[in-house]
Amino acid sequence: MGSLTYIVASLGVLVSITEASSLSKRAALDTCLSTLKVPIYANGSADYTQAIKPFNLRVTFKPAAYAVPLTVQDVQNAVSCGSINGIQVTAKSGGHSYGSHGLGGEDGHLIVDMKNFNTVTVNQTAQTAVIGTGGRLGNIATALYNQGKQAISHGTCPGVGLGGLSLHGGYGLISRSKGLTLDNILEATVVLANSSVVTASETQNPELFWALRGAGAAFGIVTNFKFKTFTAPENNIVFQYYPSLNSPEQLVTLLTAMQDFTRNSQPPELNMRLFLSSFTSFSGVYYGSRADFDKVMNPLLAKMGVSGGLITTNSWLNTLTSFSNGALAQPAVYDTHETFFSKSLMPSYLTPAAITALANYWNANARSNSRAWYLLFDSHAGANSAISKIARDATAYSHRNATFKMQFYDRVNSGTYDPTWQSFLNGWVKVIEDASANQGVDLGMYINYADTSLSKDEAHKRYWLGNYDRLAQAKAIWDPRRTFEGPQLVGS
Ligand SMILES: Cc1cc2nc3c(=O)[nH]c(=O)nc-3n(C[C@H](O)[C@H](O)[C@H](O)COP(=O)(O)OP(=O)(O)OC[C@H]3O[C@@H](n4cnc5c(N)ncnc54)[C@H](O)[C@@H]3O)c2cc1C
Ligand SMILES: *[C@@H]1O[C@H](CO)[C@@H](O)[C@H](O)[C@H]1NC(C)=O
Ligand SMILES: *[C@@H]1O[C@H](CO)[C@@H](O)[C@H](O)[C@H]1NC(C)=O
Ligand SMILES: *[C@@H]1O[C@H](CO)[C@@H](O)[C@H](O)[C@H]1NC(C)=O
Ligand SMILES: *[C@@H]1O[C@H](CO)[C@@H](O)[C@H](O)[C@H]1NC(C)=O
Repeated sequence: MGSLTYIVASLGVLVSITEASSLSKRAALDTCLSTLKVPIYANGSADYTQAIKPFNLRVTFKPAAYAVPLTVQDVQNAVSCGSINGIQVTAKSGGHSYGSHGLGGEDGHLIVDMKNFNTVTVNQTAQTAVIGTGGRLGNIATALYNQGKQAISHGTCPGVGLGGLSLHGGYGLISRSKGLTLDNILEATVVLANSSVVTASETQNPELFWALRGAGAAFGIVTNFKFKTFTAPENNIVFQYYPSLNSPEQLVTLLTAMQDFTRNSQPPELNMRLFLSSFTSFSGVYYGSRADFDKVMNPLLAKMGVSGGLITTNSWLNTLTSFSNGALAQPAVYDTHETFFSKSLMPSYLTPAAITALANYWNANARSNSRAWYLLFDSHAGANSAISKIARDATAYSHRNATFKMQFYDRVNSGTYDPTWQSFLNGWVKVIEDASANQGVDLGMYINYADTSLSKDEAHKRYWLGNYDRLAQAKAIWDPRRTFEGPQLVGS
C-alpha cells in the first residue's frame, strides 16, 4: 500500500504540469492505468466497441478510458488514476441504466467495468451470500439456487447487473414479502474516492451504508455485497389475466380497485402488476396454495371486472423464468439492446382525479400511438408490504410509501427515436401531476428508471425526496472532490 501511494503521488506531480487540456489529461490517465497495470479495453478494439454499446441505444457516450479490473487492487488503482487526473470515475455493472449512467451519463468518464466480479458464495448455515457486483441477475439466481436452494429478492430481467439494481432499489416479484434487493444487504465492500477500501454495514461506516442503499453510485465502487438469503419457495402460483380494456371508465375501475386493494388488504405473499400496452395484462405470483390464492384473488377480480386467467404452479426457477422474457443464463458477452425513452412515478396515492386524468390521456393519446409503448403498475407499498415496514429514513431509498411503481416506456423496434416523441410520456406524467397538485401526495421517481429529461435539481428532488439533504452531506464526507459524478447523481 505504501509503495502504491508513492507511485500515484509521483504521477500526480507529473500530471499536474499538463492539466490544461483534456487531451493531455486523457493521455496522462492512459499512462497511469498502464503504469499501474490496470486491465483496459483499448479505444477502438472490438471489446471496447461492444462494451460501450449501452442497453438503451438512444443514449450513448464516449468514455475517457475503459478499465476492466480483475482485482480489488485494480479497482483502487483505477480510482486513483481518475482522481489524480481530474477525470470522473463511473462503475458499471450490467449497463442497464435507462440513462446509460453506467457509461457516466455524459462523455469523458473513466469507466470501471465490474464484469469480472461475478462470484456467488453461499454460507448455507448462516443463510448469507457474498456476491460480486458485476454479475447478472439470471446467473446469480441460478448460482444461489444451486447452493442449497437459496434466493434473494431481485428484479425480473435476467440481464440486469447486481450493482446498479442493489444500490438504487431492486423491486421484483417477491418484494412485497421479502423487501427490495437493498433491504437484504448486510454488508458492502467499497472502494472510496481516495482509493481506500472499507466495509459498510449497520455497525461499520453506518452513514455510508445508509447512503449506498438508494444512492450508491455517487459514493464509491462496490466490489461485492453480503446478502441475507432465504430458502426459495416452491409450488408458487403464477397468474396472468388479459382484461379487455375498451374505455377510460373501465381503466378507472381497474386502477381504483387495484389501488384500494394494494393499500389496504393485499397480503405480502401476493405480488402483482398491471401492464397497459396495445394489450392489457394483469399478472403476478402468489407464494401459497391455490385454495388460498382463490380466496384472496376472487373478490379483487370481481371488483376489477376481470376473469378467465391462465394459472399455473411453478418451482422457484420457473417462477423467475415466467417473468424473465427468456432463459435465466446470460452469455459472457451481453448484446441485447433497445431504443427508448422512459419515465417513472412512485405515487404515495393516485387521487380519483389523477386516475381519471391518466385514463383519459390513455384514451386520447396512448391507444393511437403505434410505437411499442407500455405503462406498468407494480403493486409496491401498502399496509402489508415488507417495503413499507422499513422507515423512510432508514435507508436512502425514499419511496417506502409509494403504492405503485409506475414505469412509462416508449420504444421503437428499429431505427432512431425522434426526440420530439418524448412529449408523449412527459405529457402523460404531467396530467397526473396536475391532477394531484396540493393534495399532500408524494410523486417521487425511481432512479433505476433514470429519466434523461429531468434537470439535475428535479432529479435530486424526485429520486430522493426528503432524503436528499442528508445524502448531500454524506457526499461531502465520502467524496469531497466529486470523483464519482453523473448528471443526476447526488452532489452533481
Ligand atoms: C430490461 C430491464 C429490466 C429491468 N427490470 C427491473 C426490475 O424488475 N426491477 C427493478 O428494480 N429495476 C429493473 N430495471 C432497472 C434496473 O434496476 C436499473 O437499470 C439498474 O440501475 C441497472 O443496473 P446495472 O448494474 O445493470 O446498470 P449500470 O448502467 O451498469 O449501472 C447503473 C448505475 O449504478 C452504478 N453502479 C453500477 N454498479 C456499481 C458498483 N459496483 N458500484 C457503484 N456504483 C455502481 C452506475 O455507475 C450507474 O450509475 C430493469 C432495467 C432493464 C433495462
Ligand atoms: C478513440 O478513437 C477515436 C477514433 O480514432 C478518437 O476520435 C477518439 O478521440 C478516441 N477517444 C479517446 C478517449 O481517446
Ligand atoms: C457460515 O456461517 C456460520 C454461522 O454463522 C459460521 O459459523 C461459519 O464460520 C460460516 N462459514 C464460512 C465458511 O464462513
Ligand atoms: C407511510 O404510511 C404509513 C401508513 O401506511 C404512515 O404511518 C407513515 O407515516 C407514512 N410515511 C410517510 C413518510 O409518509
Ligand atoms: C479516505 O476517505 C475516508 C472518508 O472521507 C476517510 O475516513 C479516510 O481516512 C480516508 N483514507 C485515507 C487513506 O486518506
